[in-house]
Amino acid sequence: MSIATRGADTPGYVSGFGNEFATEALPGALPVGQNSPQKCPYGLYAEQLSGTAFTAPRGANRRSWLYRIRPGAVHRPFQRIANGRYASDFTTVPTPPNQLRWDPLPVPSAPTDFVDGIVTMAGNGDPHAQAGCGIHVYAANRSMVDRYFYDADGELLIVPQQGRQRFVTELGIIDVEPREVVVIPRGLRFRVELLDTSARGYICENYGAAFRLPDLGPIGSNGLANPRDFLTPTAWYEDREGSCELVARFMGNLWSAAMDHSPLDVVAWHGNYAPCKYDLRRYNAIGSISYDHPDPSIFLVLQSQSDTPGVDAIDFVIFPPRILAMQHTFRPPWFHRNVASEFMGLIHGAYDAKAEGFVPGGASLHNCMTGHGPDARTFERASNADTSKPDYIEDTMAFMFETRCVIRPTRFALESAQLQAEYFQCWQGLPRQFTGRR
Ligand SMILES: [Fe+2]
Repeated sequence: MSIATRGADTPGYVSGFGNEFATEALPGALPVGQNSPQKCPYGLYAEQLSGTAFTAPRGANRRSWLYRIRPGAVHRPFQRIANGRYASDFTTVPTPPNQLRWDPLPVPSAPTDFVDGIVTMAGNGDPHAQAGCGIHVYAANRSMVDRYFYDADGELLIVPQQGRQRFVTELGIIDVEPREVVVIPRGLRFRVELLDTSARGYICENYGAAFRLPDLGPIGSNGLANPRDFLTPTAWYEDREGSCELVARFMGNLWSAAMDHSPLDVVAWHGNYAPCKYDLRRYNAIGSISYDHPDPSIFLVLQSQSDTPGVDAIDFVIFPPRILAMQHTFRPPWFHRNVASEFMGLIHGAYDAKAEGFVPGGASLHNCMTGHGPDARTFERASNADTSKPDYIEDTMAFMFETRCVIRPTRFALESAQLQAEYFQCWQGLPRQFTGRR
């Protein structure tokens, strides 16, 4: 284990997924040979941040040791604040079996930071049961200043769609742009700064088991998302005294506590419970080189496993640029009805199963056993395409949060002006083709 040292206010990263990292922003800040010495170097406090049960098997155990100016316990009592449009109760309105699709949420005109800009679109399960997920979009136009956030209800998988963003976390700084994603572990404190005038994106708030890389089975030892492309920040800290606000997401509500210093005061840390980012453009897509359209499980980036072997609670799947070479095959996704439920977003470009209506920043939801697939125009085009030549799908990046349980839209999502009431029409033009003859 090597120790990365850094003090500058620019991001530095170490690569790997779930590795044991060790990093210090001041030389010698990490204790040597033990986690909690009687006195830590530089007068720092030792604090363990655990993301799994202490007794979790070694391969699944996640924890980090933080060496910080003050312990995380030093803050005033939390008080409830308004939840805004951030929700985790998905039982307030009946869930329709309809195909649903939304236009992008506009960036607000009033001053709105990352936390205030979170709008819950859908979800399932319950943070209290540590099962399921919240699915949110966010749109912000200003940085968080003297304001920090952590989510005790879930891990955050953040998918920026517009604008570059800086995640300044307890464990270091992560800069991202659209087509990169960030994973913030449950409980980690951070603030979000906007590096452009506005920011928009999607969030999967994972109440259950932390995201992991899937096994590769017969694919072999390489492919899909390669571990070395996940980047974790090196240690960075701010030694700031003064009035700060710490916002907690806890049991579905937002809480606020006053602090007299920044909580981002971790000078050194080691462990494997850490944030990371991943550039989706590095995904090694696997596909058919003979015939037929494979299931989208070949596009799995990260999975949150359920208690049932082979059945994930959440799959994070992407549809990246790729070459389709399958012959005598309908190349876009075929019509399908699945036991799983699918919330999709479009980060960039166009999605190859829809001719129009699904735009960057928008979203769609196709729930358990709800029929969907290519629209009429895409069906017509793909049915008559020359499959002796490959299709180069180049200008695109779509993703899917696919879940075991039905995804239940919020009242806001079902009543929002962005809901496309005429979405069902995209299939109505599919003609009867049956002739009774082969
Ligand atoms: Fe689907």
